Amino acid sequence: MALALLLWLRRPRVGPLRTFRRFLYKKKWATTLPRIPCTKLALRNFDMNYSLQFGDRWPSIRIGLLSEQKYCALINNFAQTEKVIQELELLNAKDFIYESRQRSLALELVIAAGSSPKDERSGCLDVQDEELRPDVPIDGDGARAEHTQTVLLQSSFNYPRIKCYTFSKGDISRFSPARLDSMGRLSHYLMDAASLLPVLALDVQPGDEVLDLCAAPGGKTLALLQMERCRHLTANDLSTSRTGRLHRVIQSYVPRELCAPGSLRITCCDGRDWAEEESTYDKVLVDVPCTTDRHSLLEEENNIFHKMRTKERQSLPMLQLELLIAGLLAAKPTGDVVYSTCSLSQLQNEYVVERAVEVLAVEYGVNVRIEDLSFFRGLFQDTFYFFDGCRVGELVLPHLTANFGPMYFCKLRRIT
Ligand SMILES: C[S@@+](CC[C@H](N)C(=O)[O-])C[C@H]1O[C@@H](n2cnc3c(N)ncnc32)[C@H](O)[C@@H]1O
Repeated sequence: MALALLLWLRRPRVGPLRTFRRFLYKKKWATTLPRIPCTKLALRNFDMNYSLQFGDRWPSIRIGLLSEQKYCALINNFAQTEKVIQELELLNAKDFIYESRQRSLALELVIAAGSSPKDERSGCLDVQDEELRPDVPIDGDGARAEHTQTVLLQSSFNYPRIKCYTFSKGDISRFSPARLDSMGRLSHYLMDAASLLPVLALDVQPGDEVLDLCAAPGGKTLALLQMERCRHLTANDLSTSRTGRLHRVIQSYVPRELCAPGSLRITCCDGRDWAEEESTYDKVLVDVPCTTDRHSLLEEENNIFHKMRTKERQSLPMLQLELLIAGLLAAKPTGDVVYSTCSLSQLQNEYVVERAVEVLAVEYGVNVRIEDLSFFRGLFQDTFYFFDGCRVGELVLPHLTANFGPMYFCKLRRIT
């Protein structure tokens, strides 16, 4: 009986009814096809592109990306945090910025003592110079000069007033959630420690006028405010809902008087239109939307690899370029811009930076210089794994023992 029914259903048909039934039948098939998860599509895409970009290193980066991310606790300087800091230190967490500063001070002593890097390497002072730049061979005058330059850049780095605790390499302990103090302010903000590097690279000086062009949900804005160096900070984001989150972060961490319009302005505009305003900023942070590689591999929700978002994903490099150009035009001549993404993609990183420099020169007559940040590798090598193959800018690679990043950042200075 069942066979007869099946044969009857599959009998050849003629006329318009046949087309109609076929259409229904096909449609049903299409809707019942298993959907490939966005995370899987992202992994396929990364396997294809990043295995070419990173070669032998890709398997290690891949494991890092697929494993639990590490966080840091950015201490809220505006809250009562003595107890929290004590607890963190008991857990063996270290303020990685303070630790780097201590190393830097040791270097200054070396320089003040007048010893050359060659002397350091021969061990005449108690500095573990091998760790400073293990990748730089010191034989030959050129290499020695380069090493000296790196050491000088490291020692002249202007550390801001930011406290940020991380667990050391290999330690995968977790931080407890932030606590409210008696004034109702939260004790710390959990974020990827590598996200602080673009903020440090911006090197904000007291009295600077600063623009954070894509600011929400606000981790980097909060770090900028913790420094208490900006004369005025403008934090902008296109998304209304994310700007709402930015407002809430600031309310939970920063005293009201520092949020007054004279000190802080939060705007909700398309950053690409910023160029229409005058070039008034000393420092501009352009932390663009990107493929958010870690998120794309782990979360289905709001995933940029969703089929419906293919066009949006493919047009990211163009959006990033337009945002970087707008950021550069918003900076004063001699002003600095830091461009950053949390993607490993060369197309979204170096290519965008190089293209922006060209467009600025050709279309706007504005000259831009890419600044050397390679000394960051030496300063923060105890905390992060840096990639040494970027043409311009620096890239933190995820790694099982120090699972921060990816974080790409590049600093550009307007010459004219
Ligand atoms: C990587 S996130 C920024 C993260 C933020 N800097 C932080 O540290 O928390 C990129 C942001 O760019 C915003 N965005 C996207 N397109 C934009 C545009 N055209 N203008 C300004 N912001 C934009 C997104 O809403 C998103 O919040």
